[in-house]
Amino acid sequence: MIQNVSVIGLGKLGASMAGAFASRGLNVIGVDINQQSVDLVNEGRAPVQETDLEKYISENRERIHATLNHEEAVLNSDISFVIVPTPSDENGSFSLQYAGWAYKELGRAIGKKDGYHNVVLTSTVLPGASRYGLLPILEKQSGKNAGQDFGVCYSPEFIALGSIINDFLHPDFTLLGELDTKCGDQVEDIYRRVMLNGAPCKRMSLENAELTKISVNAFVTTKISFANMLADLCEEIPGGDVDVVTDALGADKRIGAKYLKGAISFGGPCFPRDNVALGYLAKQLGRQAVISETTDMYNRSIPEAIVERVKPMAGKGKTVAVLGLSYKPMSHVVEEAAGIFLARSLAASGVRVVAYDPLANDSAASELKGKVVVLKSLQQCLDQADVVLVTTQDKEFAEIKASDLKSGGGPVVVYDFWRALGDDVRNSEHVKYIGAGLAKDSQKIADRLEQLWDLNP
Ligand SMILES: NC(=O)c1ccc[n+]([C@@H]2O[C@H](COP(=O)([O-])OP(=O)(O)OC[C@H]3O[C@@H](n4cnc5c(N)ncnc54)[C@H](O)[C@@H]3O)[C@@H](O)[C@H]2O)c1
Repeated sequence: MIQNVSVIGLGKLGASMAGAFASRGLNVIGVDINQQSVDLVNEGRAPVQETDLEKYISENRERIHATLNHEEAVLNSDISFVIVPTPSDENGSFSLQYAGWAYKELGRAIGKKDGYHNVVLTSTVLPGASRYGLLPILEKQSGKNAGQDFGVCYSPEFIALGSIINDFLHPDFTLLGELDTKCGDQVEDIYRRVMLNGAPCKRMSLENAELTKISVNAFVTTKISFANMLADLCEEIPGGDVDVVTDALGADKRIGAKYLKGAISFGGPCFPRDNVALGYLAKQLGRQAVISETTDMYNRSIPEAIVERVKPMAGKGKTVAVLGLSYKPMSHVVEEAAGIFLARSLAASGVRVVAYDPLANDSAASELKGKVVVLKSLQQCLDQADVVLVTTQDKEFAEIKASDLKSGGGPVVVYDFWRALGDDVRNSEHVKYIGAGLAKDSQKIADRLEQLWDLNP
């Protein structure tokens, strides 16, 4: 039974994985190329910001050791989980640049090791990357044979930033691509001991697992986009309310309620890029991933359409406040966030934009440098804003009252993409409230629908 594991890459996922493994009694050697990350872990501290990570590392300190040296990790463990960046390249594929470098180091170390060593890739890659991109590096550098002297697996995680450790320990299922049964058995045994909920392990070929991983995000984002499309339609139907529709829709067990809330475009480090990657893969295979390509195209069109809608409301002398700059509530991650796009595009078209986020202000400020004023408090934003765009479901925004908004100078437009604000704002005569996915009470909308059904024109 394997007791000593190594984790290559102590970033958001790797450090969390190291903490989670150690909390379940495994001895963990963590490797990173960044001296500071190594030092922090050895001091019992979190190398990156992530919920409970510091607690997991400090409480299990006696079972975690970090090093810069891949060889030390390979020689003192039986299995290595590799979780280094695989950034998107200009074609939309995932670059193996970092993984290739790590596999070189691991291969050299395996060459010096007497016994069998199992190498498990956890980073997101496209089908074929493990077998045809990375396995040959291990064979070349070690001078040994895959399957015989070392194992090759692909086993990605299904986690969300902000709940990585909890998600890792309580997965719906674990996904395991294996070169052969021997290396797969080792990984499944570790998962059985580590995961807290007895999740089933789906075992398959390396390529099927690589495809499954990106398919999960591609499918979930298609579902989100479907709800966004319904929200758009609801705005043109008398009495239309997307929450009423999706609530019923989600009650159908074939569909389910999760990720079915019409609101704004999805963002973050994974969702958008996985659709692009699937589109790229399909093209390389002589096929077309039409659904993923459309999901991506539709998703990118949403903030663009919002900008066109807001511009006429934000004429000369007006200020727009963008509330929410991260890609989801209570996160500091601003990658592909709708709020960042809106703030940047509106500012580029000459609108004065102020912005605020409870956690992402610092990362947003560097993204929006010189173009948008990122303010320290919500109230500072509201004091100046003629138009307020609420892009995330942060609790602080849901508590906005009409009396917090700017007074004088006409009604303040509040565009609430998640329909999070209360009646006090919605019903205030000083506010022009726009809830995404909610129809305006308008004769024009009713007339249009009536015309559609006029059987005696
Ligand atoms: N962040 C997410 O939400 C998420 C979700 C699912 C999957 N993933 C995938 O997980 C992988 C890692 O993501 P992350 O967010 O943890 O990245 P990250 O950038 O936070 O961490 C990667 C770490 O790897 C280290 N590293 C790079 N090359 C190395 C090497 N040769 N040896 C040792 N360490 C090395 C870096 O110094 C860094 O600390 C990516 O493939 C990503 O697509 C990420």
